[in-house]
Amino acid sequence: MHIAMVSAECAPIAKAGGLGDFVQGLARELARCGERVEVILPAYDGLRLASSDQPRPLGIAFQVPFRGVPIDCQILGLSLDGYECRLIAPRSAQRFFERGRLYGEPDDAERFAFFSRAVADYVSRSESRPDVLHCNDWQTGLAPVLLAERREALGRIPVCYSLHNVGYQGWVEADLLTAVGLDPARLLTPERLADPGDPRRANLMKGGIAAADVVNTVSPRYAWEIQNTEQGMGLQAWFQRHDYKFGGILNGIDETVWNPLTDPLIPVDFGPETLPRKALDRQALRARLGLEEASDRPIIAVVSRLDRQKGVDLIAHGLQYGLASGAQIALLGSAIEPAIAERFAQLKSRLETSPHARLELGYDESLAHLIYAGADLILIPSLYEPCGLTQLIAMRYGTVPIARRVGGLADTIQDANYSSAPFESRNGYLFDEPTTEALEGAMDRAIALWRDHPDYFSRLRLNGMRGDYSWRRPAREYLDLYAYARQAQCARASASSRR
Ligand code: ADP
Ligand code: GLC
Repeated sequence: MHIAMVSAECAPIAKAGGLGDFVQGLARELARCGERVEVILPAYDGLRLASSDQPRPLGIAFQVPFRGVPIDCQILGLSLDGYECRLIAPRSAQRFFERGRLYGEPDDAERFAFFSRAVADYVSRSESRPDVLHCNDWQTGLAPVLLAERREALGRIPVCYSLHNVGYQGWVEADLLTAVGLDPARLLTPERLADPGDPRRANLMKGGIAAADVVNTVSPRYAWEIQNTEQGMGLQAWFQRHDYKFGGILNGIDETVWNPLTDPLIPVDFGPETLPRKALDRQALRARLGLEEASDRPIIAVVSRLDRQKGVDLIAHGLQYGLASGAQIALLGSAIEPAIAERFAQLKSRLETSPHARLELGYDESLAHLIYAGADLILIPSLYEPCGLTQLIAMRYGTVPIARRVGGLADTIQDANYSSAPFESRNGYLFDEPTTEALEGAMDRAIALWRDHPDYFSRLRLNGMRGDYSWRRPAREYLDLYAYARQAQCARASASSRR
């Protein structure tokens, strides 16, 4: 099968969070299964490229109309480990992808609406046509809509649409539809793109859900939450209405990138059979962050985008509570929102003089690896979490998660004390309410086990390390979903030819 995955992110070259890991991990596993995989991305100016990886022009050029102006685009090719990337490079006055970062620009909606139109044009060329198009999140929600609006001689391309974060739906003004050549009078209806909260505005994710052949989110629990609770952020009824083609598939992690036995970004390798060696990475982490050597203190870490979704109040509280409870704390966090960035900058300067606390603000891939390897506990107090990869990565590195029981965190973590699962599958600590008391309760239990029962704590670490978080099973589930999308498309084509 020729699978084209479209996304705003793909690790390692363009990653802000887990969406990048998702695309890389799934693309690699599908390619390993023998499928032909192509990842389509914007040609961002800040791609993190190895010197040996240079995008090359593929001799494919076309014009993409946007706001009535034809914009010259070319396709660049890049071979990454196991799969191919196609980079869409426009030459436009707006310099859409030359901003030094992936997101957070005032015209993000314009940038990704343009990208979606360019993708729809690119994949509709008969030479580039995939067997299935896999779109991701609001940024690419318009691509299924654009394809559904076309009358293609070869029939429509089957589309799978994955939702990684329903907190961001792409709410835009109606004229953005006109900008990409769509007709707002036809599409801005309750049946299509009109936002349920403000029907004068278009909701790109809502439109993508209606137009796609199959839709999924990244854990079964989040699939339930967005249909049945306020986590659906206004789209609950819409999810229920489309539940005939909707489901949840738990993410994997790429075990070649995230493997403490082979990770080149950590100083000392270790695995379940050599767990004591993790202590050397803990030492290296302390040295890297300037934390005092303290064998009586566990290291409690946070590695996160600092976004409201992640429970920033609880993160700030948990760090201070950990410190007051005699632990060391380490945070690596990246914030886009200025108020959140400022708040953590203040916390960082307040804790600067403590030998037991270090906050690093920004994005740092290699420090993230060292933290997973060196820490004892990781805090993930998310308000909502579609899947969450940090808990899976942390567990792989023998670092025990303390997390809120939501979304994929609830699907992947079995509480050390309260789970009904057998002891061998218990791997972390969960709390329910998004309150400081509930968080403190879980942290108390974790710190007490670390301090008073180190053997039991090691067993928890090992349970986490031995879990199967690979992409093998999820990749098979995506292949089934693609097959289902193709059947749905054939059925639709034959129904419309009978009419
Ligand atoms: P989300 O996608 O919502 O950010 P996930 O848990 O799915 O959350 O994935 C987060 C990914 O981003 C992980 O690979 C994590 O290591 C990485 N990450 C998050 N923040 C940072 C940061 N500041 N520096 C480096 N890596 C980060
Ligand atoms: C999103 C979600 C996160 C998920 C990731 C990959 O960024 O916030 O929970 O793991 O996408 O699917």
